[in-house]
Amino acid sequence: MKRLIAANWKMNLAPHEAGLLVRRLETKLAPHPQTEVVICPPAIDIFPLAKDLDRTKLKLGAQNIHFADDGPYTGEISAPMLKGLADYVLVGHSERRAMGEDDKTIAKKLAAAVRNNLTPILCVGETLTERQHNLSHKVVVDQLTAAVHELTAADVSSLVVAYEPVWSIDHHDGHAPVHATPDEIRFAFTAIRTTLEELFGEEGIGNLRQLYGGSADPDHCRAYLEMPHVDGLLVGTASLNYESFAKIVKTAQSLA
Ligand code: PGA
Repeated sequence: MKRLIAANWKMNLAPHEAGLLVRRLETKLAPHPQTEVVICPPAIDIFPLAKDLDRTKLKLGAQNIHFADDGPYTGEISAPMLKGLADYVLVGHSERRAMGEDDKTIAKKLAAAVRNNLTPILCVGETLTERQHNLSHKVVVDQLTAAVHELTAADVSSLVVAYEPVWSIDHHDGHAPVHATPDEIRFAFTAIRTTLEELFGEEGIGNLRQLYGGSADPDHCRAYLEMPHVDGLLVGTASLNYESFAKIVKTAQSLA
């Protein structure tokens, strides 16, 4: 199974800054047969980045898509528009859930991604309050079950699931990033596999890749990458610095 290191730039870096960061990153990276590196920039950056990308080193992903393929949806972009530009798409990120995206919409977006040959990176994870109420396991299973509602076993087999506990995501709110320990997050990777296996059988987990996300940085990435059933990382803050992100990629490559 190839490792996957994905950068989630969130709402950062305009096209000229994005191009600069990617060029610098490319100088730091070497192609590696067992590691995929995916940049998920803001939508406006995807087209200019796609033109010059060194595809032996990097791929592109979108941070969001609409569930419809076209239509009267002002401000949205659809999966077919990303054809030839992006290979991946984040679906159900906690920041979008917090903006009102519900399980039903997430299920439709996941189906739209699969229908249009984009590999979805489905994000699941509990909030701090849910964790304090011992609901972590239930939230992960419920979010996953609802999201894959419209998919078949064959669809699910290409899925990437990122477990991102919301309490460990760096929200840039003045609080120091919380680095979850492997013991705190281990349950999720088992829960995700078990749930997909129960719903879809062996085929459902045949090619499943699981990522961890939440304040992953050069100092903490190795511990996550060495965990059983963790195939990679979804990196926010540390992906905005090309040296930090390159270090994370190199750590993953050294373990692959
Ligand atoms: P972080 O973000 O690495 O800044 O915590 C991860 C994410 O939200 O995907």
